Amino acid sequence: MAKESLSITDNRTGKQYEIPIKHGSIHATDLRQIRTGPDDFGLLSYDPAFMNTAACTSRITYIDGDKGILHYRGYPIEQLAEKSTYLEVAYLLIYGKLPTKSELDRWLHDITYHTMVHENIKKFLDGYRYDAHPMGILIGTVAALSTFYPDAHNIFDQRSREIQICRLIAKMPTLAAMSFRHSVGQPYPLPDNDLSYTENFLNLMWKATEVKYAANPILAKALDVLFILHADHEQNCSTTAMRCVGSSHSDPYSAVAAASAALYGPLHGGANEAVLTMLKEIGSKDRIPEFIKSVKEGHGKLMGFGHRVYKNYDPRAKIIKRMADQVFEVTGRNPLLDIALELERIALSDDYFVSRKLYPNVDFYSGLIYQAMRFPTTMFTVLFAIPRTSGWIAQWLEMLGDEEQKIARPRQIYLGEQKRDYVPIEQRR
Ligand code: ACO
Repeated sequence: MAKESLSITDNRTGKQYEIPIKHGSIHATDLRQIRTGPDDFGLLSYDPAFMNTAACTSRITYIDGDKGILHYRGYPIEQLAEKSTYLEVAYLLIYGKLPTKSELDRWLHDITYHTMVHENIKKFLDGYRYDAHPMGILIGTVAALSTFYPDAHNIFDQRSREIQICRLIAKMPTLAAMSFRHSVGQPYPLPDNDLSYTENFLNLMWKATEVKYAANPILAKALDVLFILHADHEQNCSTTAMRCVGSSHSDPYSAVAAASAALYGPLHGGANEAVLTMLKEIGSKDRIPEFIKSVKEGHGKLMGFGHRVYKNYDPRAKIIKRMADQVFEVTGRNPLLDIALELERIALSDDYFVSRKLYPNVDFYSGLIYQAMRFPTTMFTVLFAIPRTSGWIAQWLEMLGDEEQKIARPRQIYLGEQKRDYVPIEQRR
């Protein structure tokens, strides 16, 4: 039987090493024994942007990027999107199994009864400028929650952890809606415990003077499916931020704020906002060839296309594309959809995109649905952060329970100046 090991010859010294292979990987610290002499620190692996480095083992989300497969805890995303609900999926991600009826009832009850936020949050919301980006507000307010719940620092206390988990999942929609209402100068409605998670979020977003807000069930269901699709995606940029910050044993609110900040960037969760901006700039189908040409010449990217892991059609994008029709039946067709469909058609038949395996990702169509549902583009990343909170929490818990993990601390390859003496200012040239 073939040996599960790697033989390495260091041509600098002629020495040979045998390094074990486990789960198709070598342990990076096994390279440290490869040294030219006692003063040599040992061989490092250089991997900017973690292109080929596994920073953890995980049992949460499985992706096969070449085949376009996504599973949460072993369950295919297509089945979960069709049969489950976001809160059930959140439970699955966090606790590793589908809940029984009584576990689910308890979970729904706990989340429903933690949706309110402290009145003081309203006061510091007033401090944000009238045009503050809702994502900036969300990052600030979720971080501030840690000051309202000092017990959150007891991250190894099981009971405290469970309460913080419920609070985070329950309060993210409340904070998200408040961040929007601040920007339009509208009062903050109270959560409604009779409503489902997404119905309540829509109530917090849109309730005006009516006694009870009733969301359109098709739109509430579509939002729930979008939440399922966005709940986790293994070791992406924001999840890495969550694990990194969590590894210093910060409280979960601070870690979720850091993860949200990572999500804010246009290369990650900010991409669907960028897709809409791009579609508006293109403006009409006849301008697509000109736009594609400029992308190929290196002037900007085709936003919503390409993915570090998927080298095939993103399975989430497939589900969203199908769902768009149901939503547009209620809201009316988004005129930008025609531009998006034509853009996809042209890109997928163009060698530049085909040869680089650039396919639509989750963000390509989600923004069109959000826009049809009346969400302003500035809310798109916020709509991503709400469900991703459950994934971040699941990954954070897994990290805390993993005995192989320590505080995250990558190495560097120093290429700067060697030691030199300080020069007084009058002698500098
Ligand atoms: N448009 C045009 N060209 C692209 C695109 C794009 N969207 N994405 C990648 N490429 C090109 C690159 O220029 C590069 O070309 P080259 O080999 O000639 O230099 C090649 O494809 C490989 O791209 P990389 O940048 O090496 O791929 P990487 O894995 O680093 O980037 C990323 C992945 C950041 C998602 C990238 O595809 C991108 O910027 N896409 C647009 C933004 C976007 O949609 N982000 C959402 C991602 S999904 C999510 O976060 C939820």
